[in-house]
Amino acid sequence: MTSRSRGPRRLFLVAAAAVALVLAGCSSTDNNGQNSLRPKGSAADKIDNLFVPIAIIAIVVGIFVLAATVYVALRYRYREGKNDNPKQVHGNTRLEIGWTILPALLLAVIAVPSVSTIFELAESPAPEALQVTVVGKQWWWQFEYPDAKVVTADELVIPAGRQVDLRLKACEADVCNVIHSFWVPELAGTRDVVPGLTNRLTIQADEPGTFLGQCKEYCGLSHANMRFRVVAKTPAQFQEWLSGQQQGPVNPLLEEGSDGGQVPAGETQRLIVNKFACTNCHAFDDSSVVTYGPNLTHLAGRERFASDSFPLNRTNLVNWILDAPGMLPMQTEDPKCRPSAQEGCVGMPSFTQNAGDNPVMTRAEAEQIADFLLEQK
Ligand code: CUA
Repeated sequence: MTSRSRGPRRLFLVAAAAVALVLAGCSSTDNNGQNSLRPKGSAADKIDNLFVPIAIIAIVVGIFVLAATVYVALRYRYREGKNDNPKQVHGNTRLEIGWTILPALLLAVIAVPSVSTIFELAESPAPEALQVTVVGKQWWWQFEYPDAKVVTADELVIPAGRQVDLRLKACEADVCNVIHSFWVPELAGTRDVVPGLTNRLTIQADEPGTFLGQCKEYCGLSHANMRFRVVAKTPAQFQEWLSGQQQGPVNPLLEEGSDGGQVPAGETQRLIVNKFACTNCHAFDDSSVVTYGPNLTHLAGRERFASDSFPLNRTNLVNWILDAPGMLPMQTEDPKCRPSAQEGCVGMPSFTQNAGDNPVMTRAEAEQIADFLLEQK
């Protein structure tokens, strides 16, 4: 084999390997729960119906342009003994007009479904849509059901087959100050969550199921961990879940003391309220209140915790209570707060190391708190 014929063959093999590698990324055998090409709701359907035909057109155009380029490069390449300059021409008017008009026509055709899809996606939801307020925090998602007066975190529970009218905000108090972006690829497109604005997004899951979502706008240290899940239930199951959330906690946090005031209702509650002051940031006995950290009143009803990062089980929860910053990066620097922020602007502290003002927690104490929380269904 001459060195002249080996070059193109090697190039071809490298190109083939690269294409195979890229296509392997599109493997459809395993479902990662975030495949926008497998839409499970009306908004995602509309986006998919727009994406697929336009992608096909783009691929056909791409192949045509590449093939033409390769053909011209080979057909008119340098040849031994034929080293004359090609005939110099100033262009072919018919061709020039052709390749100006054709792309313009193509873009005009593509614009019709694109613009109409944009308007369809921006349509207001039906009046019977479920209203949920979504608040992006550093770095977790809070979900508020204003009509039912329920506040929860990490899991957005919705009824299947019904529109959900999301109001997206990045600020409850003055302490959340960055842009996030809300995205559930199988249900809808993305919507930015901007401090000082309330953005809207309508989502709907056609069937019951679990759909994975995440923050899609870089928002600091733990941006990549800012996940959540949408759990779509049948309408009956959803109502059952909602009324469950409206109930008080399984174990009360406080009881009436001998002097008539409210005191911790037991030994574990004393750890939570007094010793470690968990109640500074979390609610344990009222799922209707908005707190700085996630509302934990019905924590045990959730599948996962800490922004969908860990399955909710005793080991994970004990480790988390002891040393959350050892498991996920947490916000720790005060300068990230606005000067007007009243409260500190920090994530969950470590109770084992660098404890600062916090008392050191024993594993037994963490287990006691975890067992208490795991009963709060
Ligand atoms: Cu929130 Cu990225």
